[in-house]
Amino acid sequence: MSRLVCVSNRITLPRKTAAPGGLAVGVLAAMRETGGLWFGWSGDLSANPSTQPGLVTRERIDYATIDLTQTQYDRYYRGFCNTTLWPLFHYLTDRFRYDHEWHAGYRDVNRWFAERLVPLLRPDDRLWIHDYHLIPLARELRSLGVRQRIGLFLHIPFPHIEVLRLLPPYEELIRNLTHYDLVGFQTAADEKSFHAGLGGVFPEGAPLVKTGSFPIGIDVDGVIAEASGAMRTEPVKRMIAGLIGRRLMIGVDRLDYSKGLVERFTAYQRFLERHAARRGRLIYLQIAPLSRDDIQAYVTIREALEQATGRTNGRFADTDWTPLRYLNRNFPHGTLMGFMRAAQVGIVTPLRDGMNLVAKEFVASQDPADPGALILSSLAGAARELEGAVIVNPYDLRGVSQAIETALAMPLAERQERHTAMLATLRGNDLRAWYTNFLAALG
Ligand code: G6P
Repeated sequence: MSRLVCVSNRITLPRKTAAPGGLAVGVLAAMRETGGLWFGWSGDLSANPSTQPGLVTRERIDYATIDLTQTQYDRYYRGFCNTTLWPLFHYLTDRFRYDHEWHAGYRDVNRWFAERLVPLLRPDDRLWIHDYHLIPLARELRSLGVRQRIGLFLHIPFPHIEVLRLLPPYEELIRNLTHYDLVGFQTAADEKSFHAGLGGVFPEGAPLVKTGSFPIGIDVDGVIAEASGAMRTEPVKRMIAGLIGRRLMIGVDRLDYSKGLVERFTAYQRFLERHAARRGRLIYLQIAPLSRDDIQAYVTIREALEQATGRTNGRFADTDWTPLRYLNRNFPHGTLMGFMRAAQVGIVTPLRDGMNLVAKEFVASQDPADPGALILSSLAGAARELEGAVIVNPYDLRGVSQAIETALAMPLAERQERHTAMLATLRGNDLRAWYTNFLAALG
């Protein structure tokens, strides 16, 4: 078997707490099974980064990490990756900004990654590149003589060509994708958008690029075991004791404007306005660990959420009831699964999302004898699989408010039926299927 080499901007170093995102979990699961090399940014900045990657080996995985300079970080990570590509690919065009220097920094860091990776490669390696940070990497590697197979998986949506055209170098971005042996997307819709883009850039006939959709899944039995095990732990018991018999609605999201949290908080406020009988009987717990908090748009959204929380609680709270509990801290994964199992409603309403594994985890974490109901945005990739959710448009605040009532009022038999169907879907396409199918297609 050839060695698997994964490359991602951020890597999950042993003993560092993983960012609560699908990429880190997915790559780690694949690497744990196959062993191999995982190459990426150390998460550290250095005035004078070494050209030699730092190397650590744990459980058959060799981790090779490199530092970035402050300027690289500012232009590449904060700038092009997270202020240009992230909003654009999520169709949030009002947040999209472009700067020529950021783009130059993006190219520069991809070249920097390629130069440091090449000396570590072996002739029979298979390379699996992850996400929007590293789209030009295959082209850079090819120009340095790399002939091994190279695949890319995009964890976020791929936008329609008319949105992509907002990006001045959009043609270059599409061309860069043609240097891969395989480009994988979360959904067939993203794959279709890419082909439309190819057609736009090469009207005379596009080069052949092998593509596929590989919706990322979860480790279903792992989540079930974590969730039921967590019910006996102190943090979960304490959270449940704090509910004093009230019902719980839960949201777990990185604090990111793409997650639709301001809209969700507003919809919850509407719900409390319109359903007076539910006041005092429901607690909405929103866990939102800080993310990318040195980027202005993330500072702004955080302030907006603090204000919205204050408005809702100021208006509706009682001496013995706080309607909205909003926490910026993170919890161990098992504890989160326990919190979800204790909830009657899971609410996942991103304005756009490549997949959204929280939605899948909520389903798997439920007690099959008395499962909670899931409210899910139609604009998340996961909605294409989880048809048993209460599907909402996250911009339709009245619709989301109604969905909360629908979820709370849903009879047991219906909840069980929906849960059984969704769990079967999750099992049919789990995390293992994601990496196995991608690697099989890469060849
Ligand atoms: C989320 C997204 C991933 C992305 C990651 C980067 O998890 O779903 O597609 O790669 O964020 O996170 P970071 O904290 O490194 O910006």
